[in-house]
Amino acid sequence: MATSFSAEKVPQAPEDPLFGLMAAYRKDTFDKKVDLGIGAYRDNNAKPWVLPVVKKADDRLRDDPNLNHEYLPIAGLAEFTSAAQKLILGVDSPAIKEKRACSLQTISGTGAVHLGALFLAKFYTRSQNQPVYFSNPTWANHNQIFANVGLPIQTYPYFSAKTKGLDFEGMKSTIQSATEGSIILLHACAHNPTGVDPTREQWKEIANIIREKKHFPFFDCAYQGFASGDLENDAWAIRYFVEQGFELCVAQSFAKNFGLYGERAGCFHFVTSPGSDAGNTISRIASQLAILQRSEISNPPAYGARIASTVLNDPALFAEWKENLKTMSGRIIQMRKDLKSKLEELGTPGTWNHITDQIGMFSFTGLTEKQVLKIREDAHVYMTKNGRISMAGLNTNNVDYVAKAIDKVVRETP
Ligand SMILES: Cc1ncc(COP(=O)(O)O)c(C=O)c1O
Repeated sequence: MATSFSAEKVPQAPEDPLFGLMAAYRKDTFDKKVDLGIGAYRDNNAKPWVLPVVKKADDRLRDDPNLNHEYLPIAGLAEFTSAAQKLILGVDSPAIKEKRACSLQTISGTGAVHLGALFLAKFYTRSQNQPVYFSNPTWANHNQIFANVGLPIQTYPYFSAKTKGLDFEGMKSTIQSATEGSIILLHACAHNPTGVDPTREQWKEIANIIREKKHFPFFDCAYQGFASGDLENDAWAIRYFVEQGFELCVAQSFAKNFGLYGERAGCFHFVTSPGSDAGNTISRIASQLAILQRSEISNPPAYGARIASTVLNDPALFAEWKENLKTMSGRIIQMRKDLKSKLEELGTPGTWNHITDQIGMFSFTGLTEKQVLKIREDAHVYMTKNGRISMAGLNTNNVDYVAKAIDKVVRETP
């Protein structure tokens, strides 16, 4: 019988570019190959790192005679979601005190972004079909997630190719001229892919425009504590918006800051504005989120949330986690310094201070697509086509090699 899914109806989709890059790297047999594509932390030996505190929590869980494999509630593990809420909003958050925040455990950050997108597509009134605005560029999956729930997509300028920093004027003027009530997606810290974040003063200006235009802010936070090594600092923008009384939502991932990538631990938070009816509002919102969650995943996976919850709810383990975060962020910050100084020593044409100005897992090098392909071909250094490198792929054994390869490609490939 003929298929109902002909090539016209179901065309062959392109491979996910990042996963394609990873496959190409794995196949490469060159001994000095370097993977700067990966969005995961690596230690100085280019190996995945199980955080020592995660190992401890894992051992504790495995030794627990009461551990079973029952379903979690629809909204997830309550000890986890309440600790996750305090972590992102702050223990003294007015939203928590006034009980106007709700939190559901999700399939890591991706699931949280999706749950938020789905909720907004269904329940956020957009009389003029207001779009969701992403930074240009953004994490590629934002496009797919929001398109899948049928929300129209627009972008605001973000990265200035000239300064390799924030195009703040462009960002502001687009958000300012967007139709009132648009959804504005913001990276809470360590912007992916550019590594460029607004300053606190700039965040305040952004908040003013969003308030004035009655836009809805949607924060995506995948790097709290991983970016600067300081959990409070990396959550500053979100907490500022909450203090200002915004109604907003937050997608929170525990993939990077706990190294729990494959365990899919994440949380979605919705905060409503202060007001006498805020408690009822948040209860209605939570009830609808629970229905969406039930139809999508029934209930979230337990193990990663149990590990994170064990750490977040134990003061000694929590203190140790902060040290582990410093180890990861510190190594990355050191690699930024090393790469920059090596490029400067080599006299590589161009300026390189953006490498140390940018923050988090990624750096937008400014290499062109042509240079990216050439450096892969000649030096077996793998990075995404937009010139983004994962700082976690650098270590003291390969940073020299990578700097020389960048130097060569910048000089030889216009
Ligand atoms: C900006 C951003 N949002 C969300 C995620 C979600 O990742 P995960 O689903 O693994 O938590 C990532 C991961 O790379 C990211 O960079």
